[in-house]
Amino acid sequence: MTGPTENTTQSKQYPVPDAFARTAHVGSRAAYDKLCADAQNDYEGYWASLARQFVSWHKPFTKSLDESNAPFFKWFEDGELNASYNCLDRNIDAGLGDKTAIIFEADDGQVTHYSYKALLARVSKLANALKAQGVKKGDRVVLYLPMSVEGVVAMQACARIGATHSVVFGGFSAQSLRDRIEDAGAVLVITADEQLRGGKALPLKAIVDEALTLGGCDSVRQVIVWQRTGGNVPMVAGRDVYLDEVMAAQSDVCPPEWVSAEHPLFLLYTSGSTGKPKGVQHSTGGYLLHAAVTTKWTFDLKPDDVFWCTADIGWVTGHTYVAYGPLAVGGTQVVFEGVPTYPDAARFWRMIQAHKVSIFYTAPTAIRALIKAAESNEAVHPRNFDLSSLRLLGTVGEPINPAAWEWYHREIGGGRCPIVDTFWQTETGGHMITPLPGAHALTPGSCTLPFPGIDAAVVDETGKEVPWGQGGVLVVRKPWPSMIRNIWGDSERFKKSYYPADFNGKYYLAGDGAIRDEHTGYFTITGRIDDVLNVSGHRMGTMEIESALVSHPLVAEAAVVGRPDDLTGEAICAFVVLKRPRPTGEEAKQLANELRNHVGHEIGPIAKPKDIRFGDNLPKTRSGKIMRRLLRVVAKGETVTQDTSTLENPAILDQLAQSN
Ligand code: PRX
Repeated sequence: MTGPTENTTQSKQYPVPDAFARTAHVGSRAAYDKLCADAQNDYEGYWASLARQFVSWHKPFTKSLDESNAPFFKWFEDGELNASYNCLDRNIDAGLGDKTAIIFEADDGQVTHYSYKALLARVSKLANALKAQGVKKGDRVVLYLPMSVEGVVAMQACARIGATHSVVFGGFSAQSLRDRIEDAGAVLVITADEQLRGGKALPLKAIVDEALTLGGCDSVRQVIVWQRTGGNVPMVAGRDVYLDEVMAAQSDVCPPEWVSAEHPLFLLYTSGSTGKPKGVQHSTGGYLLHAAVTTKWTFDLKPDDVFWCTADIGWVTGHTYVAYGPLAVGGTQVVFEGVPTYPDAARFWRMIQAHKVSIFYTAPTAIRALIKAAESNEAVHPRNFDLSSLRLLGTVGEPINPAAWEWYHREIGGGRCPIVDTFWQTETGGHMITPLPGAHALTPGSCTLPFPGIDAAVVDETGKEVPWGQGGVLVVRKPWPSMIRNIWGDSERFKKSYYPADFNGKYYLAGDGAIRDEHTGYFTITGRIDDVLNVSGHRMGTMEIESALVSHPLVAEAAVVGRPDDLTGEAICAFVVLKRPRPTGEEAKQLANELRNHVGHEIGPIAKPKDIRFGDNLPKTRSGKIMRRLLRVVAKGETVTQDTSTLENPAILDQLAQSN
């Protein structure tokens, strides 16, 4: 057991456990420093050497980085590869055909093991079926599927034939799904009759049907339906086909389609501070390289490990650390259909015990919810389970508060497992700032130092690096292989969002604030600096929620802000002005519920505001700008102490404060 020590800033530091360092892929701070120095001395050479080591190329690349059309960077462009070949065939060729690739646990607890061979056979059948449906290289395929092996198979099958997948999280509404299908110009949708979560069956096919009737989806020629529950769903003749049927007719051999390293592997929609969600476009070669190298180094993945990333394939974490990374390095992983609280809040601990999970990667929100459950019900406390198989823990998606970190370390990791607090984004493709567990002593709440080769820095508004100990804006100063390539169909927005003129268009702007420890230089992420909220590790744009609110016939105006929440990190708080007099009492409650459901219908349940407050109007400057800064204070339940003299209507703050 490794005890913490105090450093000069009074924050606890957990040294690397000796036993861990001895066998780690990157086993010391000196080894980490050496990798960073290699990248520093020959940036392109460093990445090229990793790309040769971690990726199998059908045609080798001759050049690493092409900056000629910055900020539209290209990596390994004349190289050819196939992502699915890298994740499946080459492992089988290396003798891992019978190794378990996926241990699937269904919502009801049923467990199925899939070997690499079995997975390749399924991927090939579906890939052939997609080809038979007329899907071609470069076509976009939308996947609206539950967390399942079928989901991973569908992603890999698209990759196998060079189709670009776009997974839409099963919690998004018909409207959101429609928007994404239209923007991507998808030719085919793969869905399931229903998804099973926490013992409940939720419709998916019905939502696809609704989305396709909302208009703008003429590009879709077919819908493939996986019968997950066998629920009786209506099928549209000439458009809808069953997955089992189309697969049964196909051979289990499908030669991979070789594509350029820059070929778009997938689009994944995510929220920005303005406008509709953006289709983040990722490459094949650079993305796969980072997925593989981070899976191996950050998670210190070894052949005997059982890796479990709890993220849904609908989010980027489920792309990089479920569908691609663990397979690209020949690992064994758990894929889980259900939720952490069903049949009770010990589900995760029971599964770690049953499958002898050695590396466990989840979100701080889940940890906080499970702490609460364990503290109020002894039966679901992790101490009742044998978690001795664990050797490494990880978190992702939002800042982890030190108290939750300590609990995770002590109660789940038995005090012996390092925790990798991994900072990254949909746009970055993989880990950016993260401990390498054999190299870095840990400080709760800090994601420590950049992954070797990632040139992250904290700068002021002029782009100048700020001294350690001073907060600033997080940027990445050099392009890296797995970076976003474009926003699908909107190059201007790409430039504006990520390479703004503020920094001469040279630095990638993450959209987060950060501060480095005065003594160690360790990074701590201080949160988004734009109008993006992080609710339970899910990214939501305030503008999107505002647009959903004002699309309700009763709403005249709405402003959405975040407020801190013990469980979900941030909670959505909406201030609403109606087209009729401000409701109070029961009427306000009812209307708030109606609006909540409306947002759920427009975007999805994850976007439902926790608080809705009604006002006669909103705090605005004389030029008509809504003062969100003040609304954030009101949302927190605090008194506004800032100067409000520039407000057109200062009295509204009192009304909003009392309208909870
Ligand atoms: O604000 C940061 C936060 O999540 C944002 C990215 O969200 P998304 O694209 O949905 O990807 C989430 C999974 C990679 C970031 O801009 N974030 C992510 N990881 C961390 C984090 N904040 C603090 N600590 C982290 N480890």
